[in-house]
Amino acid sequence: MGQVEREFIQREHHRQGDFKAPPFLPRTKTKGLDLERLDGERYLTQEFMQAEWDTIWTKTWQLVTRADDFEEPGSFFVHELGKESFLFVKGDDGEIRGFYNVCQHRGNRLCQAESGILDTFTCPFHGWQWSNDGALKKVAAPELFRQFDSGIPSEELGLQQVKVDFWGGWLWFNMDVDACPLKEYLSDIGAHLETYQFENWQVVDYQTFEWAGNWKHAVDAFNESYHFAALHPDMIEFGEGHDIPIELWGIHSRMLNFNRTVSEVVEDRETMTPLRAHMMGARMQQQGVAHTALAKDVHLREIEHRRSIEDETYLPFKDMNDEQLVHQYHYTFFPNTTFTQTPEGGAIFRYRPHATDPGKCYYDFFIVSYPPPGTVKQERPVHKVHNHENNPDYIKVFDGTFEPVFANVLAQDGSNMATMQAGVASDSFKGMILSEQEVRLRHFHKTIDDFIDGQVDTHHLLPSNHYLERD
Ligand code: FES
Ligand SMILES: [Fe+2]
Repeated sequence: MGQVEREFIQREHHRQGDFKAPPFLPRTKTKGLDLERLDGERYLTQEFMQAEWDTIWTKTWQLVTRADDFEEPGSFFVHELGKESFLFVKGDDGEIRGFYNVCQHRGNRLCQAESGILDTFTCPFHGWQWSNDGALKKVAAPELFRQFDSGIPSEELGLQQVKVDFWGGWLWFNMDVDACPLKEYLSDIGAHLETYQFENWQVVDYQTFEWAGNWKHAVDAFNESYHFAALHPDMIEFGEGHDIPIELWGIHSRMLNFNRTVSEVVEDRETMTPLRAHMMGARMQQQGVAHTALAKDVHLREIEHRRSIEDETYLPFKDMNDEQLVHQYHYTFFPNTTFTQTPEGGAIFRYRPHATDPGKCYYDFFIVSYPPPGTVKQERPVHKVHNHENNPDYIKVFDGTFEPVFANVLAQDGSNMATMQAGVASDSFKGMILSEQEVRLRHFHKTIDDFIDGQVDTHHLLPSNHYLERD
């Protein structure tokens, strides 16, 4: 147990109550799984990539976009995953549906814009048309098709549907129409997050980075904080990522990064340096809270403050445990969606495989916030894809929507992708040695293996804690 945690427990004032998210503290032990090295092959080969496609991507729930992006009949959104493109659209009947974005004539990509409003989707190649409920509307010159001599088989030529569902104000989809409902998939660990009231949140920014590494290197990179001290030395000045609590939960997992403290690996944890003041002091001063805390104790003052205003604020402090009031609750839903937030804001990471190359991936980054009631809904942010190999300026990419210190952190993470991809391909590489702080990686890769081995029934996913050991 780390110093920050001990200090937190000493000062903790968890109220009695039935919080939807059980606190991490006191910490429960995670089962060790095994200690074997993790092979490099899984990041490299077409075979492994294909097995993931067949058993994971085509069977699991995927986050798409905000449900309120579909304001009017005809509002549509195109989302790509691996080799596939999907078209999500609100029909004139008000229902939001999802389809493979594939023309039923010769297979062209039907809709070639990312978003907009249309009542009819027309394939640019020969002009076949579909309505916004996916029904075939028009075949161009049907008299030229002998197949249609006795009538056009409209049902067969409708757009092929995928399953959609909603959670947290987000639209999700699953290629497997027999998949279990989304809520069942997210299980009780999904229910933990309901206190954040994500339905009321908004997307402040949305950017995608193309990284030169397998998608699992990106998941791995964000599911442990052991690397903060070496790769992100700034991060340990205003937070704790060293020896933090982690819990494995069925096929999903969570961890807690302590905010507004100084890591125990830093010698001077008390001085309020300019960086520490900027990253964790400024907001308290704005709120009129006397700024007298030692740097390492700012989180404790902030918790006291937040508890004291829980009856006045629109933020759902009342329903949250003390950890949630200020710390980073970092949840990853298998295989590729991470929610990490405090009550007022956070980020969602989505990792997507490249269509053909196991050595590339897309890292989607949503900045989200809980706006005060009455805030006018923000325009959809301009979404761009930035290739890390072209040296994008991560600070400029977000154009003022993201704290520059954190934008630099993302650039540091991005810089690791090509080097990890190259290193695990070396003939000399013996496999990864994973620490207890990297147990989420061990669990994630074991879950991938379980999917590939056919050991997970995604039609009837049990709320199984089979990797979780509680005291
Ligand atoms: S390929 Fe779409 S109309 Fe021909
Ligand atoms: Fe990182």
